[in-house]
Amino acid sequence: MKPSQMGLCSIWLSGLMLIALSLYATQKLPSIKQPLLSRRGHLRHPVGPRITIFTAPGPFSGSAGDRQRVAIRSWLGLSPRITVVMFSQDASAVSFASSFDSRLIVDADVDFTFLGTPFFHSMMARSRSFGSDISVFVNPETILLPDFTSSMSFLHELDQDWLLVASPRNISYLPFRLSDDGTHWLKESDKRVKMKELQEILSRKSQWSPSDGKLITAWNSRGSPLHTGTLPPFLYGKGTHNHWVISEALSSHLRFVFDASWTISSYFLDYPTNQSNDLSGRESWEYVGNSHLGALYGSSLFREANFSSLVRLMKCSGRYLFFDPVSYAVSRSGGRNKVGLLEKKILHSWRKKKVSACVETIKSSEGMWNWSSKNQLKASAKLDFPFLLESLLSGIADENKTIVLTVAGYSYKDMMMSWVCRMRHLKITNFIICALDRETYDFAILQGLPVFRDSSAPRDISFDNCHFGSKCFQRVTKAKSRIVLKILKLGYNVLLSDVDVYWFKNPVPLLSSFGPSVLAAQSDEYNKTGPINMPRRLNSGFYFVFSDGSTVAAMEKVVKHAATSGLSEQPSFYDMLCGEGGSNRVGDNMCKEPETNLTIYFLDRDLFPNGAYEGLWEKRNVREACSKMGCLVIHNNWISGRRKKLERQVLSGLWEYDISTRMCKQSSKISC
Ligand SMILES: *[C@@H]1O[C@H](CO)[C@@H](O)[C@H](O)[C@H]1NC(C)=O
Ligand SMILES: *[C@@H]1O[C@H](CO)[C@@H](O)[C@H](O)[C@H]1NC(C)=O
Ligand SMILES: *[C@@H]1O[C@H](CO)[C@@H](O)[C@H](O)[C@H]1NC(C)=O
Ligand SMILES: *[C@@H]1O[C@H](CO)[C@@H](O)[C@H](O)[C@H]1NC(C)=O
Ligand SMILES: *[C@@H]1O[C@H](CO)[C@@H](O)[C@H](O)[C@H]1NC(C)=O
Ligand SMILES: *[C@@H]1O[C@H](CO)[C@@H](O)[C@H](O)[C@H]1NC(C)=O
Ligand SMILES: *[C@@H]1O[C@H](CO)[C@@H](O)[C@H](O)[C@H]1NC(C)=O
Repeated sequence: MKPSQMGLCSIWLSGLMLIALSLYATQKLPSIKQPLLSRRGHLRHPVGPRITIFTAPGPFSGSAGDRQRVAIRSWLGLSPRITVVMFSQDASAVSFASSFDSRLIVDADVDFTFLGTPFFHSMMARSRSFGSDISVFVNPETILLPDFTSSMSFLHELDQDWLLVASPRNISYLPFRLSDDGTHWLKESDKRVKMKELQEILSRKSQWSPSDGKLITAWNSRGSPLHTGTLPPFLYGKGTHNHWVISEALSSHLRFVFDASWTISSYFLDYPTNQSNDLSGRESWEYVGNSHLGALYGSSLFREANFSSLVRLMKCSGRYLFFDPVSYAVSRSGGRNKVGLLEKKILHSWRKKKVSACVETIKSSEGMWNWSSKNQLKASAKLDFPFLLESLLSGIADENKTIVLTVAGYSYKDMMMSWVCRMRHLKITNFIICALDRETYDFAILQGLPVFRDSSAPRDISFDNCHFGSKCFQRVTKAKSRIVLKILKLGYNVLLSDVDVYWFKNPVPLLSSFGPSVLAAQSDEYNKTGPINMPRRLNSGFYFVFSDGSTVAAMEKVVKHAATSGLSEQPSFYDMLCGEGGSNRVGDNMCKEPETNLTIYFLDRDLFPNGAYEGLWEKRNVREACSKMGCLVIHNNWISGRRKKLERQVLSGLWEYDISTRMCKQSSKISC
C-alpha cells in the first residue's frame, strides 16, 4: 500500500468512526428530539424521557423510614433515566442518599418550617432548576411499578402540554421483596416475580384509597406553566397543594389535565396511625399553616372545578387511550388543542368490544375520588388553633433547656425576619417568637416560624410610633418581662433578644457560663469610661436568665412593679434589682438583689455594645469595627423612630432579609 492510499484509508476510517460516533451520540442524547421522529406519529423515543421525581421525605427512621427506603428504591430501579430529588434538611436523608449513585439527590435549598416541613411553592420553584423532560411529585412512601415508565414514554410523545394525576392503591402488606438494585421483585424463595403476576396480585390485595396528599402529579417540564394563579405558600404534606394545583390547572386551560390512575400502578402500605393531638408534630403544623392560609385567602383560595369529570388514561389491548366520562368519547391522542378537547371518536367505530370492556372497567371504579380537602380547609379556616407555648418550648429548647426569645409586633415584622434569617445563618434553632398581635402571628405562621401569641399584649400597637419612651413602647416592654417570667416558670432558661439586636456570633455559650442566680444583661451606659451599672443603665432588651428560684422571685418583683408603674419596664428592672439610685450596686458592673440573692451582671460593652457605645453605628464599616472589638452582638438602640432605626440597619449591611422576595438573603440559606 502506498503512503497516500494509507492516508486516504485512514481518513475514510476515521470518517466512518465519526459517523458511527455521532449516530451513537444522537442515540444517547434523548433531550434533543430527533427531527425525523414525528411526535404525532407516536413513535417511541429510543431511550425514553428523562424523568425527575421530587419528594420530601420525613426522617429515615423507624417503620416510616423503611417504607420510604423501599418506595424510593422502587423508583430508582425503574429506569436509569430517572433521577430522584429529596427535599430535606435531615441528616438521615443525606446518609440514605450516600449509598446510591448521583441519581438520588438531597436538596436543602428550599424554605422549611422550623419542624422541617418544606414549603410546596418553594419546592415547585426549585424543581424548575432541574433539567428533565418530565417532572413528577410523588409521596415518599408510594411504590411505583414499571408501567409508570411506559406511561411516561407514551405521554412524552403527546403533542400538547399535559398534567396528570394518579391515585395510588392502599395495601396492608407486601407479599414480595424488592431486589437490592430495585429493578425487580422477589418471592420468598428469591425467585423473581413476573411483572404480570405482580400487578395482578398487588391489585387484588389492594384498594383505591384516594387522598390528596398521596396523589401523584406529573407534567412535561418544558412548555406552558401549569396554571395562571400564584401559588400560595402551602406546606408540603397532606395535599392541599395538589388539590389547588389541579383545580387551578383545570380552570387555567393551559394544559390537558387527566387522570392516569389506571395506567400507573402505585401502592402505599397501610399502617396503623396513632390519632394524637401532639401539637409539635409536622402534620399539625401543616394543618395550622394551611388553615391560616385558608383564613387569609378566604373562599378565593380555590377555584371551582369538577374533578369527577377528568379525562382518564387507560391501556386497552396494549394501546394507550383517553376516555372522556362526560362525552363517552375515546381517543388516542388526548386532543390536539391546548384546551384538551378530545378528538371525538364514537365508540362503535373502533374495536368496539374490547374498548367497551376497558371503558366499563374504568366506569365501574368511578366515584373513587373523594375530593374533600377543599371542605376540610374551609372548615378549619374558621378554627383558631394556636400552638401551646408548652409544646413549642419542649420541641425547640436545646439540650440545656435554653431558648432564645424575641417579641415583635407587626410594625417590626421585617426586622424580625432579618433577625430570624440571622438565626438561621448562625444555625441557631432554639429560638421562638412571641407575636404581640394577630397580624404578626399570621405572618410568622406563614413563614413557618415557631410563634405563639401573647394574648394579654396591648392590641393597638401603632405602626410608626411605638418607639422608645412612648406609651405604646412602655406597654410592649412590660409584655416582655411577663412572657420571660412565664417561660422561666415552665422550666426554661431564656435569652431575651429584641429584634433590633444584630448577632455576629452565638452568645449563648458565654452567657450561660455565668451560671444560675445571675441575670446577665446589656449595659446601656454610653460613657466610655466609668462604671457601667449606674441607675437606669440596665437594658431590658438583651439579657440572659436561668430558670431557678431566685431568678423567678426577682423577675416576679420586676413584673409586679412594672404593672403599677407609669414608666416603661426598664426603670422597674433597674430599681427592683439594683435598688433605687443604685443602692444594690456591687463594684462597677454588678448588683446584688438582697431579697432574692440574684446577681445582676452588666455585660462587657466591647462584647455586647449598645447603640451609643463607641459611636459604632456611625462607623463606615460597622461590621468591621465590631469585629475588631470582638462584639458578639450589637444593639440598634439609642435612635428614635422606626424608620430611622430600619434605615440605619439596612444601610450598615447588617440586614439579612430580602423584603421583595420574602426570603432570607442567599448567603444565609442553609444549604447542603
Ligand atoms: C386502606 O385500606 C383499608 C382497608 O383495606 C382501610 O381500612 C384503611 O383505612 C385504608 N387506609 C387508608 C390510609 O386509606
Ligand atoms: C401508638 O400507640 C401505641 C399504643 O397505644 C404505642 O405503643 C406506640 O408506641 C404508638 N406509636 C407511636 C408512633 O406513637
Ligand atoms: C361533575 O361531573 C360529573 C361527571 O360528568 C357529573 O356527574 C357531576 O354532576 C358534576 N358535578 C358538578 C358539581 O358539576
Ligand atoms: C365521600 O364523601 C362523602 C361526602 O362528601 C361521604 O359521604 C362519603 O362517605 C365519602 N366516601 C368515602 C369513601 O370516604
Ligand atoms: C449545655 O451545657 C453544657 C455545660 O454547661 C455545655 O457544655 C453545652 O455546650 C451546652 N449545650 C448547648 C447546646 O449550649
Ligand atoms: C463620663 O465619665 C467620666 C468619668 O467617670 C466623668 O468624669 C464624665 O463626667 C462622664 N461624662 C458624662 C457625659 O456623663
Ligand atoms: C440568700 O442568701 C442568704 C445567705 O447566703 C440566705 O440566708 C438566704 O436564705 C438566701 N435567700 C434566698 C431567697 O435564697
